[in-house]
Amino acid sequence: MPATSMEQLVSLCKRRGFIFQSADIYGGLQGVYDFGPLGVELKNNLKAAWWRAMVYERDDIEGLDASILTHQKVLHYSGHEETFTDPLQDCKKCKNRFRADHVKDGKCPECGSTDLTEPRMFNLMFKTAVGPVEDSGNFAYLRPETAQAIFTQFKNVVDATARKVPFGIAQIGKSFRNEITPRNFIFRVREFEQMELEFFVKPGTDLDWIEKWKEARINWWIEQGLKRENIHVHDVEKEELAHYSKKTYDLEYQFPHGIEELEGIADRTDYDLGNHTRYQKELNISAHVHENKESDSKLALFDDETKKWFVPWVIEPSAGVERGVLAVMTEAYTEEKLPNGEMRTVLKLKKHLAPVKVAVIPLKRNNADIVKLAHEIKTELLKTGIGRVMFEDSGNIGKAYRRHDEIGTPICVTVDFESIEKQPATVTIRNRDTMAQERIKVSDLPAYLKAFFATK
Ligand code: GLY
Repeated sequence: MPATSMEQLVSLCKRRGFIFQSADIYGGLQGVYDFGPLGVELKNNLKAAWWRAMVYERDDIEGLDASILTHQKVLHYSGHEETFTDPLQDCKKCKNRFRADHVKDGKCPECGSTDLTEPRMFNLMFKTAVGPVEDSGNFAYLRPETAQAIFTQFKNVVDATARKVPFGIAQIGKSFRNEITPRNFIFRVREFEQMELEFFVKPGTDLDWIEKWKEARINWWIEQGLKRENIHVHDVEKEELAHYSKKTYDLEYQFPHGIEELEGIADRTDYDLGNHTRYQKELNISAHVHENKESDSKLALFDDETKKWFVPWVIEPSAGVERGVLAVMTEAYTEEKLPNGEMRTVLKLKKHLAPVKVAVIPLKRNNADIVKLAHEIKTELLKTGIGRVMFEDSGNIGKAYRRHDEIGTPICVTVDFESIEKQPATVTIRNRDTMAQERIKVSDLPAYLKAFFATK
């Protein structure tokens, strides 16, 4: 069993302002969550770490930020209209709906009745009207994955960047799925963010690349603070594969509610680029299902050696941002006993993920000189580029330390009487994990903290 329970996380998230239920004051919108003042920082930091690892640190990946509203034909030819479905069953007694695979022994999971409808397929995509006239032809989908726009923009990106395989296109953004039974806090939700890479390779090299990406992605999650023993690699069985996949590894994590998927790494073959191109017959596409006469594009590359056009194959590492947030919080959440017998809750997040990097705390809120120096220090530290530095005067010093332990602030800087009375001015810095305190010159603080946050 994981050490952290979902109740502990949900309670911390609400109490300290990480995550709130959407439309809380109206009873909540099921399967939809809002990220509060600290949640938005944590989420942005996780996304920035992914973007940095993909787009900045490598030399073979470009970025994209495509629209959420998606043309019906894109999701027709991608196969989502036909196959992006879950089987659902209704309970005739309590009127609840369930995914058929969540119904055990033919009994309603809510009321136990066996009076259930036969399973029927339910498409998970959200539709919305486009333009002022609402008729059956005027609609678009809210994208169910960010991936499709990477395929439909493939040619534009290649033309603009002159990329040759192997290379990738990365994207972070919202996706939507009308889950029949959203559950487990932010794990299974109807509106969520994905961090997706489509990595285009030469046909025949796909199985090498999927192994490389599996290793790279495990290492990245470890850098975000997850322990290797809590990450499980699941080689997905043939019958469980998504409609576009030839092979998929699921990286699963030991979440509070069980071991479940955190990221999928799929071999999508030439399925998507193939389906979106008009020239399927001449391109020798191995995995198309639709004959496409409607597209006006040739999503292929010219091979200078063979002098032939070919459709690249695709390896797709696809991670859920909310699931990532839940995983790093699960791993970081710690309750520990102090030498004086008291308990403290501390979120041992990796420094680069911490919502607040440094809290600057004036020991006396009503001492103008102390408050002034604390403000000056905050302004100076912000210039170092280490991230959010917070002026913290919401309570006494003990309360401030407790609050910042709970939200994972790696360093607290306290400005006290000695800071304003003696020259050169000094402050106390307190380390979140060790709780060790040391005095340091104010003039040395920027360099000290820059060095501290430069290390992992
Ligand atoms: N693009 C893969 C997924 O959304 O699951």
